[in-house]
Amino acid sequence: MKITYFGHSAFMVESGKYEILIDPFLRNNPLFEQKSFDSLHPDYILVTHGHGDHLGDTIELAKKNNSIVIAPFELASFIGSQEVKTHPMHIGGAFQFPFGRVKLTIAVHGSAYINDEDSSIIYTGNPCGFLLNISNYIIYHAGDTGLFYDMKLIGDLNKIDLALLPIGDNFTMGIDDAVKAVEFLNPKKIIPIHYNTFDLIKSDPLKFQQLIPDKEVIIMQPNTKIVVND
Ligand code: NI
Ligand code: MN
Repeated sequence: MKITYFGHSAFMVESGKYEILIDPFLRNNPLFEQKSFDSLHPDYILVTHGHGDHLGDTIELAKKNNSIVIAPFELASFIGSQEVKTHPMHIGGAFQFPFGRVKLTIAVHGSAYINDEDSSIIYTGNPCGFLLNISNYIIYHAGDTGLFYDMKLIGDLNKIDLALLPIGDNFTMGIDDAVKAVEFLNPKKIIPIHYNTFDLIKSDPLKFQQLIPDKEVIIMQPNTKIVVND
């Protein structure tokens, strides 16, 4: 299985014949290598919440590739109203897709779509995180969230192989709270996300790495790929 990081919270997971995008904030993502946009052909797109830096290019990509968008119900309804195929889910629910199992977790954050043209706000329900079980490899994408104690429960119930955790502070957990999240979740590996995209979320992933020396922290450069579970 291959995991590509595009910067911010955007990932691509390639497993077998499936291409799965998570929070594809690409066109307006200063960390994304723009020339690779047309090479993306997602079968599924998972979206944690309606903020522009997560919904990103979901609608364009889904239309172009006939992708299925997996998102919390209200957000899926909004996306589905734009002639995109969706699979609505909600917090605590899981579903077996052809590529693997997806379960939605809580995330302590907001979720609304703000229309850039007229600043109107469309409420898109609760934000979420995703627990993915792909060929028995468990990935937790926390979405945008502050630290919450139920991460302990998520860690107790799931042997997480890879946790994708925000460290950028201001809108989400900062480094100190992410260190506590790692203690609760007890993942084998961690990739820090949602930092250094904009000045407001400047953060030093090396500092995070140094605070949890017993854990494998993978600091991924944007637009690079790692292979796991092969
Ligand atoms: Ni957000
Ligand atoms: Mn965000």
